[in-house]
Amino acid sequence: MTSKKKILVVQKIHEIGMQLLNNNPNYEYEIIDAEEMVTKVDPEVLKKKIENCDGLSIRTEKLTGDIINHGKKLKVISRHGVGYDNIDLAATKKNNITLTITSTANAIAVAEHVMFMLLSISKGTNMYNKAVKSGNFSDRNKLPKTIELWKKNILIVGFGRIGQCLIKRCLGFEMNVFVYDPFITSEKIKSLGGQKVEKLEEAIKIMDAISLHLPLNDKTKNLIDMSLLKTMKRNCILINAARGGIINEIDLNTALNDGLIYGAGLDVFSKEPPDVNNPLLKNDKVFLSPHTAPFTEECMQRMGKETIQNIIDFFENKLDKSKIVKL
Ligand SMILES: NC(=O)c1ccc[n+]([C@@H]2O[C@H](COP(=O)([O-])OP(=O)(O)OC[C@H]3O[C@@H](n4cnc5c(N)ncnc54)[C@H](O)[C@@H]3O)[C@@H](O)[C@H]2O)c1
Repeated sequence: MTSKKKILVVQKIHEIGMQLLNNNPNYEYEIIDAEEMVTKVDPEVLKKKIENCDGLSIRTEKLTGDIINHGKKLKVISRHGVGYDNIDLAATKKNNITLTITSTANAIAVAEHVMFMLLSISKGTNMYNKAVKSGNFSDRNKLPKTIELWKKNILIVGFGRIGQCLIKRCLGFEMNVFVYDPFITSEKIKSLGGQKVEKLEEAIKIMDAISLHLPLNDKTKNLIDMSLLKTMKRNCILINAARGGIINEIDLNTALNDGLIYGAGLDVFSKEPPDVNNPLLKNDKVFLSPHTAPFTEECMQRMGKETIQNIIDFFENKLDKSKIVKL
């Protein structure tokens, strides 16, 4: 390489990823150290800094078309994660920029998180934990009974990296696994122990659990709204560790309050952080986490490393195609 490539790291990543740059004479970098989803990066600062950089790593901060257009030298955007709905794809394509994702890093952590939410809700974690800690051990006889996963029907919506990790865990609990993903063949689904369903609106009527693992886009926005929620089984548990906008939150809150479904586990919200007056935050039938499904120490290390490795591999012409988003 002739001159050092300049890398802008927007929002800090795991130190193990930064070591790949520290030890490499071909790169120099700058970090915009904003706390993810808490401290917004000033778009004007971003526009200025992006002008000089060849590569950029980004977590959840929004990269608008206006910002990307300032990256006159920018060749690669490396997403720390696999969802890329925070990035303007048209501007990325127009400027001939390669967009990469950490495709091998986070599926296990998210699949484990889904099982954690499913078990937490079905086993009444909130109410039993609270009962014992508040000195009401004897409430054990009065509190509602919990639910087994054994032989229950679960629908995995979106059968990519995470969906395919989740099925193994569900089968471990001897659940009946159904899959809705129009882009995956029934043979593939069968080979992994699931059964393909063709019509989402028909399938959800017999499910005891539904977990979402598809991208947020114009077609999937508000996919789960009242028209579907009202046809679900009353004992159904709905998990969303994909993206907030896929479920209509107002409809979900109404469905929970009206007893149309049993409970929901949400790692993601249509607005992040959610407004303090979002009614779901106060709903006891909801189990929440702050978009932290992949926040295991192991996964953060893998994501940090893969984010930077993707940039280096891009400049060394050895980037694996599976890491590149087709624009
Ligand atoms: N909570 C988190 O922090 C977190 C972490 C990782 C990923 N995610 C989200 O999870 C999503 C899934 O991640 P992945 O790595 O499994 O992605 P992936 O691209 O491997 O799989 C997505 C699957 O969704 C399917 N799909 C697309 N449109 C669909 C539709 N309308 N109906 C049904 N299926 C559809 C695709 O065919 C694909 O198989 C990502 O898009 C991302 O937004 C969230």
